[in-house]
Amino acid sequence: MAELPGAFWGGWVLVLTVGSLVGLGWVVFSVYFGSGRDEHEASPVWDGNLQEGAHPAPLWWFWLLFGSLVISVVYLMLYPGLGALGGAFEWSQGGELRERQERYATEFGPTRRLVAEAELETLRADPGLMASAQRVYDRNCATCHGYDARGQADLFPDLRDAEWQWGGDPAQIEQSIRHGRQAVMVGWLPVVGEETVDALTDYVLALADGAPAEHPGAQPYTLYCSACHGPDGAGNPLLGASNLLDDISLYGNSAEAIRHSIAVGREGEMPAFADRLDDTQIRLLVAWLTAR
Ligand code: HEC
Ligand code: HEC
Repeated sequence: MAELPGAFWGGWVLVLTVGSLVGLGWVVFSVYFGSGRDEHEASPVWDGNLQEGAHPAPLWWFWLLFGSLVISVVYLMLYPGLGALGGAFEWSQGGELRERQERYATEFGPTRRLVAEAELETLRADPGLMASAQRVYDRNCATCHGYDARGQADLFPDLRDAEWQWGGDPAQIEQSIRHGRQAVMVGWLPVVGEETVDALTDYVLALADGAPAEHPGAQPYTLYCSACHGPDGAGNPLLGASNLLDDISLYGNSAEAIRHSIAVGREGEMPAFADRLDDTQIRLLVAWLTAR
């Protein structure tokens, strides 16, 4: 029982507790039944009949104190309290917790394992399980991605649209949740200068409509950007490099937002949840996020 004090401090606690119980018992008994009771007979008498009394408190006080002493002793025999002694019931907070965890595991373990291994369609078809998934989401993800999973603040991606920066099939989404994601795009202003940043911003804005090859941003794009974002701008889920062709963008579609991304860079971080959620919860989240 690791929660209890070691032998030395346990010994102290034992001696102090037993000592004070015995002391208290002695005081109570001596007040009521000790020789001091006859004292008033020997005490001086003033003014004919004034005499100092030493009457003990009423007898029911004695029973009250005696009763609590007995209860304390019985309690200490049954439950931990006397230093390192665990008491007859061997009760401990840690033990209680372990017992409840075991009960939980035997009661729900098999069901949870079934969920963790089930087909995603099966999970999606079960409204009860989807409600559980929503609760897991609300508690762990909504602060960043929003309660409707529609993203927030041009910082946290929309998880309901068709675009997935890090890949949208279940295995890739699971990877995003379990191990987190760290996007790295450095700022290009120090490398290419203001003019080229402006040209690139314009080029990225024009990409969706098929920017002409003679666009002033086309050549620097091929040089600096295509390795990650792809020659056509379709992005690369292995690096989390955004698709620049559609009008879905994490940090906003405005020219300023895009210019900022290019000039200063972006380093979005999705935290890893492997330690915080178990297989069942992650499986439920993947099913919930891929439901259409
Ligand atoms: C090393 C790979 C890499 C290179 C090179 C790179 N990027 Fe990126 N880019 C990324 C990543 C990764 C992200 C996503 C950042 C995030 O999610 O925080 C990104 C994001 C962006 C965004 C924001 C997209 C959005 O959804 O808001 C723009 C715009 C962009 N890049 C343009 C460029 C341009 C233009 C260049 C060339 C000058 C470039 N990138 C070079 C990896 C790269
Ligand atoms: C602290 C804020 C935060 C929390 C909490 C958080 N995320 Fe994220 N998540 C992010 C950010 C930021 C990104 C974008 C990373 C990047 O720039 O590429 C992201 C990206 C993702 C992606 C990848 C999206 C894509 O387009 O590929 C998925 C999937 C995801 N999160 C799911 C979740 C789930 C499920 C939870 C809850 C278990 C969660 N996130 C909790 C901040 C968070």
